[in-house]
Amino acid sequence: MAVKPLKVYIETYGCQMNVNDSEVVVSILAGEGYGITKKLSDADLVLANTCSVRENAEQRVRGRLDVFRMEKKKRPELIIGVIGCMAERLKNQLLEEEKSVDLVVGPDAYRDLPNLVRSAGTGLKAINVLLSREETYSDISPVRMDKNHVSSFVSIMRGCNNCCAFCIVPYTRGAERSRSIDTILRELGELSEMGYREVTLLGQNVNSYRWEKDGSGTIGFAGLLEAVAGVSPDMRIRFSTSHPKDMTDEALHVMAAHHNICKSIHLPAQSGSTRILELMRRGYTREWYLDRIEAIKRIMPACSISTDLIAGFCSETEEDHRDTLSLMEQVQFDYAFMFKYSVRPNTLAARKMTDDVPEKVKTRRLQEIINLQGRLSAASKQRSVGQTFEVLAESVSKKSTAELSGRNSQNMVVVFPKGNYKPGDYVQVRVTECTPATLIGIPL
Ligand code: SAH
Ligand code: SF4
Ligand code: F3S
Repeated sequence: MAVKPLKVYIETYGCQMNVNDSEVVVSILAGEGYGITKKLSDADLVLANTCSVRENAEQRVRGRLDVFRMEKKKRPELIIGVIGCMAERLKNQLLEEEKSVDLVVGPDAYRDLPNLVRSAGTGLKAINVLLSREETYSDISPVRMDKNHVSSFVSIMRGCNNCCAFCIVPYTRGAERSRSIDTILRELGELSEMGYREVTLLGQNVNSYRWEKDGSGTIGFAGLLEAVAGVSPDMRIRFSTSHPKDMTDEALHVMAAHHNICKSIHLPAQSGSTRILELMRRGYTREWYLDRIEAIKRIMPACSISTDLIAGFCSETEEDHRDTLSLMEQVQFDYAFMFKYSVRPNTLAARKMTDDVPEKVKTRRLQEIINLQGRLSAASKQRSVGQTFEVLAESVSKKSTAELSGRNSQNMVVVFPKGNYKPGDYVQVRVTECTPATLIGIPL
């Protein structure tokens, strides 16, 4: 009798690191005979790879756990696992609060998944939330789950050694550790051979990448960038996230020197007020941040700059808020992710500061930030009209099968008539018009 193959259904929340971790998890489970399914009703094992960065990220997962519980009512043998940052933050508490959950696994314990899943299969609750000082999963080839086979992720480090007062990540991801340059280069080479044309190097603070290479000293982020750019001239390199305090001119010069390193930097400012930045323990002032922006614009005039901003951090005044708005005007960000401050249990801010900006004020300030960024993003798109960009085609456009969608080096989405081009091709496109989210052009 043929044995029905086991299936895992996985949902991923949070940042790109989680997306890449899910690929590692699927790879580890493949060794146990698990194939992937996109249908919950086909699954023997369902995993939620979770995020704790803001309260609403956790609430969304709780909502999904309700749905999984209903499925388990129909099929009691279904194993439900919570992995990732919420698993790490809540540990045993998660098993107590969510009775349908069988499995709780933190981000550094995925190698233990086969054992834990087997144990859960016998009806025992299984948990491993040990953090590690070394784990980088460097020897595991992630099972790529991207849709287009053009663009992929490579983790270059894990964890975070900063202690931004608002942030849960150091608690859920543990201490910072870099991955060996050899395994990074090997993975890039494999992706290149598989036909991938773009890789995003991932880490919470990529600029603090450090690897001691036998006999050849320490390699920092600039050295790593130089090396990965050399893997293939056809392979685009992106990276995320950069921390303003560690962003060096050296790395900017390496970016400028290599055509295949994309001219796009995500540099989270969080606030434009030095007083708030100090309370946040970000390690830089408004002036320092602006100096880094000036360096980017000087060394790479065509580079796009995006950011993250938090509205309503503890004790933020109207003046602090106006400093954020004026910073945005000064930098002219091309894009931004904007959030309301959300207290995270046990962080420095939760322990030592008061979440004293009223909800209504936070909402209004966030709205002002969003409105301003709307104008800045529109202006950024408008500036691109009339310019010609090298676009990496990624997929057929959502709106029309006669069009391809891709991105330029600046990470802006560009849509153009398909002609004879296909995903994976580099196409010179002249931008003729734009919508709020997209550039529209014609191939030259
Ligand atoms: N390592 C990255 C950020 C990771 S978290 C960095 O240092 O830039 C992604 C973003 O979530 C942060 O940049 C911040 O803007 C936001 N964020 C983190 N904690 C938050 C909180 N408690 N409330 C609201 N936004 C938060
Ligand atoms: Fe969080 Fe700060 Fe580390 Fe980013 S650098 S992950 S915001 S502690
Ligand atoms: Fe969220 Fe964890 Fe990433 S808290 S943002 S999934 S590192």
